[in-house]
Amino acid sequence: MKNAIEVEHLRKEFKAYSSRSGLKGAFRDLFNRNYKVLQAVNGISFTVKQGEMVGYIGENGAGKSTTIKMLTGILTPTAGEITVNGMNPHKEREKFAQTIGVVFGQRSQLWWDIAVQESFRLLKKVYKVSDEDYNSHMEHVIKTLDIGPLLDKPVRKLSLGQRMRCELAAALIHNPPLLFLDEPTIGLDVLVKLKIRQFLKEINEKYNTTILLTTHDLADIEALCERVIMLDEGNIIYDGSLQKLRSNWGDLKQIVFEFSQEPNLEQLRLVTQGLPVTWTAGERRNVWVANLQNQGDSMSQLIARVVAKYEIADISINEISTEEIIRNIYEEGVVNG
Ligand SMILES: Nc1ncnc2c1ncn2[C@@H]1O[C@H](COP(=O)(O)OP(=O)(O)OP(=O)(O)O)[C@@H](O)[C@H]1O
Ligand SMILES: [Mg+2]
Repeated sequence: MKNAIEVEHLRKEFKAYSSRSGLKGAFRDLFNRNYKVLQAVNGISFTVKQGEMVGYIGENGAGKSTTIKMLTGILTPTAGEITVNGMNPHKEREKFAQTIGVVFGQRSQLWWDIAVQESFRLLKKVYKVSDEDYNSHMEHVIKTLDIGPLLDKPVRKLSLGQRMRCELAAALIHNPPLLFLDEPTIGLDVLVKLKIRQFLKEINEKYNTTILLTTHDLADIEALCERVIMLDEGNIIYDGSLQKLRSNWGDLKQIVFEFSQEPNLEQLRLVTQGLPVTWTAGERRNVWVANLQNQGDSMSQLIARVVAKYEIADISINEISTEEIIRNIYEEGVVNG
């Protein structure tokens, strides 16, 4: 299968200027400014196959948007190789633009003061889409995203959710085989998010569209992406299936004990000594949470020992969410395997 994206040793440095204090400092800054080099993207390599939907995730400032800007030709890399749809995004700009769609959730691509359909018409011209292609493709897009009633409104009068659905439609006017989405669901309500997810799934199935998606909402990733690439301070710390990430890291169970009387933590630790468990305080004084590595019969051992020693008012068992797993990984900063 063909690769939609090939990235090798890609690096982007920004110079972060610092200003010296006081008038004298400002004067000196005029001639010779102090700066630090910030490695926003630190020599990463990955490939994405045609038709894949990949979640590109990481904390604020990890370098996600910077990567997407380089992949779409908006920023020039400091070093490294990029091939997207068989092209170098910086060399064949016009031809390249025909083959990708981009949505930045933080920024509008539509013309603010004119009606949505006028923007669409302009983009249709820019991308040289035939009437026939436009009609057959966009009719479906407009219907699925439910934006028909918005088409004659100026963009500035739309709500965020309405605008985002229009942005997505606009990015698809030329039906590109590759779609970059940088936080397309930011600030949207649950129903709009569901609609957008459903829609992305559909175009992926229908046209085998490749999608690289950045989001802080892991439910987006869980709904759409089998594969995630996790970025941390400009480095890829995980590239693989979401499933594997979950099974490697998610093998933790939380058992929440509500004790009839407030237990002593030292004693609790003693009682469960030798088990792969750490105790954390619950929301009330008589509630303690056992974070347990779920291996062998550790769960039944733990419960048996606790119940034998204490009077228990309530007990519940939680599966750790993907969100918590990922947060743990961010905190520890490394992934093994
Ligand atoms: N134009 C720029 N000039 C200087 N520094 C920049 C510039 N753009 C981004 N940076 C820095 O590069 C780093 C990566 O930023 P980037 O926007 O790629 O992060 P991100 O992963 O998209 O974060 P977020 O989740 O907040 O969108 C940050 O430290 C940011 O401050
Ligand atoms: Mg960003």
